Amino acid sequence: MSEPRKRVAILISGRGSNMSALIEAAKAPDYPAQIVGVFSNQPDAGGLQVAASHGIATAWRWHKDYPSRTGFELAIADVLKLWRPDIIALAGFMRILTPEFTEKWKGRMINIHPSLLPLHRGLHTHEAAIAAGDKEHGCTVHFVTPGMDEGPTILQARVPILPGDTPDTLAERVLAEEHRIYPEALALVARGAATFSG
Ligand code: GAR
Repeated sequence: MSEPRKRVAILISGRGSNMSALIEAAKAPDYPAQIVGVFSNQPDAGGLQVAASHGIATAWRWHKDYPSRTGFELAIADVLKLWRPDIIALAGFMRILTPEFTEKWKGRMINIHPSLLPLHRGLHTHEAAIAAGDKEHGCTVHFVTPGMDEGPTILQARVPILPGDTPDTLAERVLAEEHRIYPEALALVARGAATFSG
């Protein structure tokens, strides 16, 4: 008998195009994960409606309603208790998580970042890659550790930076690769073929 599919909660802050890529991938009967809920720190995140339209449970808690990062994370934890995820996939979730939260989910929480980490952590990565004169740019799926945009790499994809590229044209080329590798990386983690080390 095949292994039960791993339960995945996705955390978003915005439009959720990577979330959509994961939802689509999980529709395949042989995909090793199912999406059990989508959470946002932004009440108006477009991805919440998209997830609901697929019949997926959604929830939001506005981080500004909480006096501290820890208080907000306790609210996230309460939601996660209902959904009982095995894995958390951050998909454009633009909040820094505390070391306590990342430690609790060590090896079971993954993130996608629009750069070839360790290059260009943080925001505005496409501008940064062009400004640095890089010949290539890309995206990385990695396990989450306390440092922002750090942690062991699961998959990376590269794209060329072309003459005349703007941050927008480059972002579009990278995003297509994000949508390709995030479902692949989640499948690796769900199957136990990619595990956290070091
Ligand atoms: C994506 O490009 C993702 O890689 C990035 O935010 C965007 C979210 O778009 N994440 C980060 O920068 C995390 N450090 P989406 O909501 O359409 O998936």
